[in-house]
Amino acid sequence: MSQSFHVELKKVVDHSYTIEIGEMLFPSLIRDLQQGLVPGASKFAVITDSSVEPLYGRPLLELLLQNGFAAELFSFPSGEKSKTRETKARLEDELLSRSYGRDCCIIAVGGGAVTDLAGFLAGTFGRGVPSLNYATTLLGAADASVGGKTGVNTPVSTNLIGVFHQPRKVYIDLAAWRTLPVREFCSGLAETIKHACLADAEFFRYLEDNIGKVVSPDGELILDPETCEQIALHNCRIKYEVVQQDEHESNLRQILNLGHTAGRALEAVSGYELLHGEAVSVGLVIQARLGVKLGYMTDGEAERVVSLLQQAGLPAEIPASITNRMLVDKMYTDKKVRSGRIRFVFQDGIGAMKTFADGAYSVPVEEETIMALLEEIRG
Ligand SMILES: NC(=O)c1ccc[n+]([C@@H]2O[C@H](COP(=O)([O-])OP(=O)(O)OC[C@H]3O[C@@H](n4cnc5c(N)ncnc54)[C@H](O)[C@@H]3O)[C@@H](O)[C@H]2O)c1
Repeated sequence: MSQSFHVELKKVVDHSYTIEIGEMLFPSLIRDLQQGLVPGASKFAVITDSSVEPLYGRPLLELLLQNGFAAELFSFPSGEKSKTRETKARLEDELLSRSYGRDCCIIAVGGGAVTDLAGFLAGTFGRGVPSLNYATTLLGAADASVGGKTGVNTPVSTNLIGVFHQPRKVYIDLAAWRTLPVREFCSGLAETIKHACLADAEFFRYLEDNIGKVVSPDGELILDPETCEQIALHNCRIKYEVVQQDEHESNLRQILNLGHTAGRALEAVSGYELLHGEAVSVGLVIQARLGVKLGYMTDGEAERVVSLLQQAGLPAEIPASITNRMLVDKMYTDKKVRSGRIRFVFQDGIGAMKTFADGAYSVPVEEETIMALLEEIRG
């Protein structure tokens, strides 16, 4: 005879938070903490990487200390290669050895690598502690720091180990873009162009008309303040309209994966020599060309996508060192793979997404079709 008990655990949660966009937002962060943004937090861990530490991590730490907050800085070597379980474990051990507990708050200061890793740590440390994101890259602003997805890479795949953990607030510091290496800034433009491709034809046209105001044709950063603000605002709005409807990626959120089936595979097989946005740029081109083949886009629309990516200083071609076989094999580790079949999400022209049977946004594409397309675009 067995007995069973039903555990009633229905929850109503409110994970709403504010994204503040502006220049030099440290004073605003301090004011928020003084006004009780994170009730109950008595210790603050500023988590950053080695490049961001002297520029923004230490200055924020000093300001926190000057304002009477108990805070310490925890740093790891900058770069995608550090976004691992090992780095997370090392930081956790450091926090524990310095008596951080459930009453702490994590402040992630940096780009997507920092907010992904620190957010994952916040989601599991003490079974979950509050966190704030202070985004210092365009890619962080456009994508990584907002939406609540956190995680690390493993030798087999990128970002598959992680948790959903929403921050208490996100600060997008447009002034921080001025210290970014141009390659990193352009990498962020790839996610920006992706957002325009999937949701907003007008924003796509705005980018076609104004891309030269942020980066010159010979690859110098111009960063016209008004254009930067428009870019940040549109990125947040488009991402949020999607995340609000499907926080845990049951279906709609998959559209944010545009360009990522090939993009993530390329990023990994390049050994992270290609930056995330650079890999996504080539992934967007592959998706657009495949879309033309399958009848979802016209040649002219695909050309506009390729041309905008190139004007943004982004690559449109698969590096010669990566074979089609390597690329397709890696696509099988993509999180959208179901029953061993590679899936893509596709643009429906420019500014909208294609839906398939039962309203699904992703669709399986046969390996032979992908291989044939890759051979064609290399040719
Ligand atoms: N969670 C998500 O939803 C999501 C979405 C997209 C991308 N991502 C992740 O984001 C990461 C890429 O983000 P990223 O491009 O910001 O990477 P990153 O954090 O590695 O930053 C890029 C480089 O710029 C440096 N840097 C950061 N800010 C700087 C500044 N203001 N001035 C000078 N140098 C600065 C960093 O030290 C690093 O060397 C990837 O790991 C990707 O998987 C996550």
